[in-house]
Amino acid sequence: MDKWLAFLVLPVLVGIAAWAQNPAAAGEIRLTILYDNYGGGEGLQADWGFSCLVQGAEKTILFDTGTKPDILRGNVERLGVDLTRVDMIVISHLHGDHTGGLEWVLSKKKDIAVVLPAMASDGFMAKVRQWGGQPLRVREPMEICPRVFSTGELPADFDSSFTEQSLVFQTTKGLLVLTGCSHPGIANIVRRAPAVAPGKPRVVLGGFHLMRKSDKEVRAIIQELQGMGVERCGASHCTGDRAIELFRESFAERFLNLGVGAVLAFPW
Ligand SMILES: [Fe+2]
Ligand SMILES: [Fe+2]
Repeated sequence: MDKWLAFLVLPVLVGIAAWAQNPAAAGEIRLTILYDNYGGGEGLQADWGFSCLVQGAEKTILFDTGTKPDILRGNVERLGVDLTRVDMIVISHLHGDHTGGLEWVLSKKKDIAVVLPAMASDGFMAKVRQWGGQPLRVREPMEICPRVFSTGELPADFDSSFTEQSLVFQTTKGLLVLTGCSHPGIANIVRRAPAVAPGKPRVVLGGFHLMRKSDKEVRAIIQELQGMGVERCGASHCTGDRAIELFRESFAERFLNLGVGAVLAFPW
C-alpha cells in the first residue's frame, strides 16, 4: 500500500482557496502554486513563470516569484495567501520568469532572507537590499531551515557559468525535490538530492525544461528518475506540453497536477 496515497493530492482551485491562507496542518507540508504556465480560471491567471508557497516546515518559504508582479498579485489575492507570513524567499535561478515578482513580494514583507544562487551579481544583491530583502548567496548545498535544503548551485546545461539551485525537503517519507526550470537537467538535480539530505527522492515537482527533448530522451529521463526511487511527479512550468504528456502517461495516477491554484499536501 503506497504511503503517499494516504495523503490526497488536491489540485484545488479557488472554491476552497481560503484553505491556502491557513497554516498547514501539523505533520504535513503544503505547497500552493501561485504562478505557473498552466491552470487558472476562477479569477486565477496562468502565465509563463513559476512561484510556489511552501508551508509546514519551520519557516514559510516562497520559492520563486513568477514573471509579472500584477499577475502574481492577482493570484495571491484570489488564493487568499498572506505574504506577510513568508519567512524566507528562495530564488531558483536568475531568469525573469522566477524573479519578476520579487520586488513586489518584498514590498509586502521586508527584512527576510532572499536565498540566491551564488552567481547573483553585486548589482542584483544591491537591488534586493534596496527592495528590503536580505540577500544571501548559496554556492554549496546547505540546510536553510530544519530538514529543508538547497542543492547548492548546479551548472545549467546551456552555459556552465549560469547556475540554478533546487530545494530538497527531507520528509518522513523520503525526499521531495522542488525545482524552478531544471536548467542543470532534472535527472542531475534529483541525483544530487540524496547527497544533500539523507533519504531517497520520492517526489519531484516543478519545471523540468524538456521542451526540446525527443520522446525517447524524455522517456529515458523518466526511467532514470524512477530508477532513483521517484514515485510521484509533477511536471509543469517550462517542461513542455509533450514532455508533460509523457510524464502523465508514465506516472498515471501518481502524476501530480500543478498549475496555478493547485494545493498539494505531503506528510512532513
Ligand atoms: Fe522558468
Ligand atoms: Fe529558466
